[in-house]
Amino acid sequence: MKKHNHFETLCIHGKGKYDTLHHSVVPPIYQTTAFAFESAEDGSDLFTGHKEGYFYSRMGNPTVEALCCQLSHLENTEASLAFGSGMAAISSAIMSLVPVGGKILASHTLYAGTHCLLTRSLPGRDIITTIVENDEPETYEHYLSRESFDLIYLETPSNPILSLVDIEAVCNLARDFSVPVMVDNTFATPCFQKPAELGAELIVHSATKYICGHGDVIAGMVTGRKDLIQKIRDDVLCRFGPIISPFDAWLLLRGLKTLAVRMDRHAANAAKIADFLNNHPKVINVYYPGLSDHPGHDIACRQMSGFGGVVSFEVKDKQAGCSVMNKVKLFTRAVSIGECDSLIQHPASITHSSLKDCELKAAGISPGLIRLSIGLEHADDLIEDLNEALE
Ligand SMILES: Cc1ncc(COP(=O)(O)O)c(C=O)c1O
Repeated sequence: MKKHNHFETLCIHGKGKYDTLHHSVVPPIYQTTAFAFESAEDGSDLFTGHKEGYFYSRMGNPTVEALCCQLSHLENTEASLAFGSGMAAISSAIMSLVPVGGKILASHTLYAGTHCLLTRSLPGRDIITTIVENDEPETYEHYLSRESFDLIYLETPSNPILSLVDIEAVCNLARDFSVPVMVDNTFATPCFQKPAELGAELIVHSATKYICGHGDVIAGMVTGRKDLIQKIRDDVLCRFGPIISPFDAWLLLRGLKTLAVRMDRHAANAAKIADFLNNHPKVINVYYPGLSDHPGHDIACRQMSGFGGVVSFEVKDKQAGCSVMNKVKLFTRAVSIGECDSLIQHPASITHSSLKDCELKAAGISPGLIRLSIGLEHADDLIEDLNEALE
């Protein structure tokens, strides 16, 4: 028997058997609040943890557990948890791992929601974040050698300018300073990048995006080292209660089945569109890690097996960017990424509008920047749409 199956096969063949009664091919949806006890003693044993099993869906649910097992299987991690949104996953992991008065070292560009959590909400709880001025490993070393941190938080590729962090290099440094590393793997997914294999202790996902894949669920996941996952579960998930519903977990399980084929098409389309934009006279800059002139291309080639489905590009100014957004016909003007439909948005005035001008500048988000989430349509149709909108 072969030891290691390919990622496409892992997506289809999960580890767990969740319907031992009827052997349904697809796991059932356990849409229930509570699970009956066999006896009073049984109830007490389940509740006090003397016996394994389900008793109340905030504490555990078989459909949610099936999803968590499958993500661990794909990310090559020990354990996972599912949440009601990506931000719930990120904030829960941070709340559990970083004490009041603690410090976080974060990568240069971040999703705006994460940026605001770190720089606006957490300081009120006496948790202070330093955002590095660039993602060179030496910069991380500089900070680590001067201050003690409780967590290193990386987003790579980052939203919206697709900057890259060398995960392995930062994890090696972090180990020397005994700091755990958490990586937002939303853009790459385990299909193209497995941060745990590069040394990260925890991986977070906005499962809303590629894991779902169809734009009909808001959800988040955390996966990684078993002891840390157990702590997040006990400290935050069960007590604060930011859980996912069994139905949404089931939709994500369905999404994971097709993750490999969808990611391949997203990335193949994105590569063609990045190439087209790179040769267009009205486009000043294209951000896509698959382009050989992208500053993170070498890192991407080392740590990713594909370059993903998001492409950002810069035109002259905000007016030119808005004009492209208003002229496209196939691209839908909407936030989010990772759906079947191609989406277009203007980060400076939409997703990242909560950042001050100086923060936008520091993060490399110019007024003429447009972010595309490339969908599953034919690449030629999308290129024609962009070409006409750029005229
Ligand atoms: C990279 C990244 N991380 C986290 C999030 C937050 O996820 P959610 O919207 O599911 O809360 C987003 C949302 O766009 C994102 O792009």
